[in-house]
Amino acid sequence: MKKTIFDLLSRKGSSPISMLTAYDYPTARMMNEAGVDMILVGDSLGNVILGYENTLAVTVDDMIHHGKAVCRAAQDAFVVIDMPFMSYQASVEDAVRNAGRILKETGCQAVKLEGGAEYTDRIRAIIQAGIPVVGHIGLTPQSVNTMGGYRVQGKSLKDAQKLLEDAKALEEAGVFAITLECVPEALAQLITERCGVLTIGIGAGRYCDGQVLVYQDMLGYAGNIAPKFVKKYADLHNTMLEAFKQYKIECAERSFPGEEHTFAISEEIIKELRG
Ligand code: KIV
Repeated sequence: MKKTIFDLLSRKGSSPISMLTAYDYPTARMMNEAGVDMILVGDSLGNVILGYENTLAVTVDDMIHHGKAVCRAAQDAFVVIDMPFMSYQASVEDAVRNAGRILKETGCQAVKLEGGAEYTDRIRAIIQAGIPVVGHIGLTPQSVNTMGGYRVQGKSLKDAQKLLEDAKALEEAGVFAITLECVPEALAQLITERCGVLTIGIGAGRYCDGQVLVYQDMLGYAGNIAPKFVKKYADLHNTMLEAFKQYKIECAERSFPGEEHTFAISEEIIKELRG
């Protein structure tokens, strides 16, 4: 049965929530079958699927295209779709219109957007339109150029204070969950204790209400390139690479296809055709 916001919120402080990113139908179907609670169609799709250097080039149409495929597969899992760069930053109107498109055209359950107190006007307006919102603070990849790179956030007193204030501001604006990305564990724990909404951590330690990972990272899909906070649950890169290499060899030496992979036709017909 489809999970709702209330199912998820009732688990705050008791039963941790599992969330993974997905961008296509078969992957989302497996996650749904595995019982993963939430699926995020992240704008990380720019890096891990589309081959961009960062998430900035991802469009609302990209998110809708991939979001539709994921939503078709997620019978039970709660689906959140990222609002990409410049789909909400310029105005409240943009934010509501684009969040509306994403929800209406994909059938997802919520949208996620990056930023703290400075975006609460957009968040309030989106929620007022009937669209649940997940916040995202800490490392916010859409601000890579102002942050000067990807690194742990909130380590100084001033920065930690700002993250706490941002989390409270997002809660007051009505989000039901906040993604905490690359935040020191003890700070994420404090935010989790101080906020009544769910905290979903990625590189934010053990005490969040839930965890999220990019699935290519946790499956070892991109080889050994993964941040410190990722646990590798599989080694798909090597498994797939070996399969591709073996296929290339077998094509070259004609050992694939074998007879068992072929379709037969009566010899009479072939004789007739050969003349
Ligand atoms: O885009 C994404 O995949 C995300 C996760 C890193 C939380 O926002």
